Amino acid sequence: MKVAFFDSGIGGLSVLHHAMKILPNEEFIFYADEDNVPYGTKTQEQVLGYVDSAFKFLVAQDVGAIVVACNTATSAAVRAMREKYSLPIVGMEPAIKRALDLFPARKVLVTATEITIRGEKIQALIDRLNAREFAELRALSELVEFAERMEFNSATVENYLREEFSAYDFSEFSSVVLGCTHFNYFKDTMRKILPTHIKFLDGNAGTLNYLIKLANLKADAESKKLPRVEYFYSGRKVTSTKELARLEKYLRRLDEMYLI
Ligand code: DGL
Repeated sequence: MKVAFFDSGIGGLSVLHHAMKILPNEEFIFYADEDNVPYGTKTQEQVLGYVDSAFKFLVAQDVGAIVVACNTATSAAVRAMREKYSLPIVGMEPAIKRALDLFPARKVLVTATEITIRGEKIQALIDRLNAREFAELRALSELVEFAERMEFNSATVENYLREEFSAYDFSEFSSVVLGCTHFNYFKDTMRKILPTHIKFLDGNAGTLNYLIKLANLKADAESKKLPRVEYFYSGRKVTSTKELARLEKYLRRLDEMYLI
């Protein structure tokens, strides 16, 4: 089946990267809305408009399912897209439940973009999990632009993260939830700053498990076969060697981040 992965930018590659490891028999389209990234600091209406255009394009590519590999777009627009289209649509959910299941006695720091943090969806999730006292929320929106510039571990990035994390006593926390797909690129820099007991959790595996169930796909984590992927920036097919090399560089960084 042809499956689309959609994100505001290159964050969704972290979900695609995982999918390439476990779904060798599918065909993928990766759509990064590079004309409009970042989404996280825009209004919900703006994001809804961007997602609507991307969906129009993707549905016309005859895909069998769409993964909204972006927490911000999921928060702002997934409900509207499900009302409009009947194909399977899978969104991202910050891995708060998994963090609390694994480490019930400690708090979890949920990091995401501003829209996600302010959105009703995350509040509803926290209420559903009865996790008010256990989940603290922090917007780290600047990381999106750092990631798009391929700036992952400069002194500026490190200082930014040190400053943001200085508000917390991490002895009370078990983990940091990466509630934005762009944040996976910074696991090594976060690892350097945070105490060693802090674990990083993302929603990638949960999203893909749901995709597999919903679209009836067959996972095979042992296969060495690489699925075919076509890349698009805001509806334009990526063909230049330079841009394909850029995407490849991100994927290789994700190989490293996967191990942390
Ligand atoms: N990658 C997106 C997410 O998961 C959002 C980044 C942005 O455009 O602000 O939230």
